Amino acid sequence: MGENVLFLLILLVCIVETEAQYKIFNVITYNASSNGNTDNSEAFLKAWSDACKWKGKSTILIPNGTYTLRGPCNSSINFRLEGLLKAPIDPKSFASDNWINFKYVNKLMVGGGGSLDAQGAYAWKMNDCQKNPNCRPLPTSMKFDYITNGYIHHMHSFNSKQSHFGLYRCNNMTLTKLQIKAPGDSPNTDGIKIGKSTGINITSVNIRTGNDCISMLSGLKNVQIMDVYCGPGHGINIGSLGKYEDEEDLADIIVKNCTFNGTSNGVRIKSYESQLNKTVVASNFIYEDIVMENVEYHIVIDQHYCSNSGECNLL
Ligand SMILES: *[C@@H]1O[C@H](CO)[C@@H](O)[C@H](O)[C@H]1NC(C)=O
Ligand SMILES: *[C@@H]1O[C@H](CO)[C@@H](O)[C@H](O)[C@H]1NC(C)=O
Ligand SMILES: *[C@@H]1O[C@H](CO)[C@@H](O)[C@H](O)[C@H]1NC(C)=O
Ligand SMILES: *[C@@H]1O[C@H](CO)[C@@H](O)[C@H](O)[C@H]1NC(C)=O
Ligand SMILES: *[C@@H]1O[C@H](CO)[C@@H](O)[C@H](O)[C@H]1NC(C)=O
Ligand SMILES: *[C@@H]1O[C@H](CO)[C@@H](O)[C@H](O)[C@H]1NC(C)=O
Ligand SMILES: *[C@@H]1O[C@H](CO)[C@@H](O)[C@H](O)[C@H]1NC(C)=O
Ligand SMILES: *[C@@H]1O[C@H](CO)[C@@H](O)[C@H](O)[C@H]1NC(C)=O
Repeated sequence: MGENVLFLLILLVCIVETEAQYKIFNVITYNASSNGNTDNSEAFLKAWSDACKWKGKSTILIPNGTYTLRGPCNSSINFRLEGLLKAPIDPKSFASDNWINFKYVNKLMVGGGGSLDAQGAYAWKMNDCQKNPNCRPLPTSMKFDYITNGYIHHMHSFNSKQSHFGLYRCNNMTLTKLQIKAPGDSPNTDGIKIGKSTGINITSVNIRTGNDCISMLSGLKNVQIMDVYCGPGHGINIGSLGKYEDEEDLADIIVKNCTFNGTSNGVRIKSYESQLNKTVVASNFIYEDIVMENVEYHIVIDQHYCSNSGECNLL
């Protein structure tokens, strides 16, 4: 993956209206590494800061590859994306299961009104997860791992290869004013997928996608979802649960004032016919002020989501 810099994908940020010269700030010249393992925070922030100081039009260029932005950081970080960030088209050029990955940061703000375009159409054709249970996941567009006190706001995500946004082991996070979009028939394009996290608020989010609008996995506590529009999509779902030995209990979920329009499901709880040696408890869900129009299955509790022979109800 080291020398995969030839193909430049675009992205553009911080446009200032003046006569001054146009300049490209390539994160690679700031010593960013696209191997998916290196922490690139410093390079991205330096490129960002220089581009913002530049008095002409500027582009921050993030070439082919996978980028990790890792903490801990000594103070809070504000990551502003004002332009359009395009991902490499070929999923083979990603070193990990994420495109942009924030890790181990306390006090993180990500926003700026910009857009992520993962250009997923080519990758969707390679998705064989319905046939191959060991398929390699395609990259999530923006993934948050071990983030505490996060505020993710005012962003657009288009045509993710797999999930648009993912949260894992996060605590005290708000996601708000997000626009998420992919075709209704794009495979596995979950809007927001969260697992093993506590204190998550999702408000004023508009999701039109090919799979679950919001997918809540095991180990979640204290989640509030408000003013979410879902459709097309597969609904706001808990699960699937009961598949993996490391699953943890899930509790205290509120889904309030949400609209489902043109979805296959509304609200759903799905679990496997358990083959696990332990019990995973899912409890205390409140659904309030829910509007559904043109929804195939409004309320679904499916405890046979996948059969023992591995066939799943993929709606
Ligand atoms: C990205 O780099 C890889 C190899 O480093 C190459 O095979 C691939 O074609 C490149 N993808 C794009 C979209 O440039
Ligand atoms: C990139 O790394 C080289 C070699 O370590 C160093 O000389 C150079 O100053 C670094 N560039 C930036 C922008 O940090
Ligand atoms: C944080 O601050 C300490 C002490 O001021 C310094 O040694 C360390 O390099 C800093 N860490 C980062 C990631 O900048
Ligand atoms: C939760 O995170 C927000 C930042 O998004 C922060 O302002 C607030 O103080 C945090 N709450 C706690 C209890 O730490
Ligand atoms: C989420 O919203 C609830 C109720 O409005 C509030 O009590 C809680 O502090 C919020 N959590 C975050 C992470 O903002
Ligand atoms: C409910 O959601 C709609 C649209 O998403 C929003 O305009 C409205 O303010 C929300 N109502 C309340 C009481 O939060
Ligand atoms: C659902 O979508 C249809 C078609 O786009 C639109 O006419 C209708 O107003 C929407 N209903 C709600 C409740 O959003
Ligand atoms: C469940 O427990 C039994 C007896 O302790 C053990 O033989 C079996 O391998 C376990 N199954 C799994 C999936 O861990």
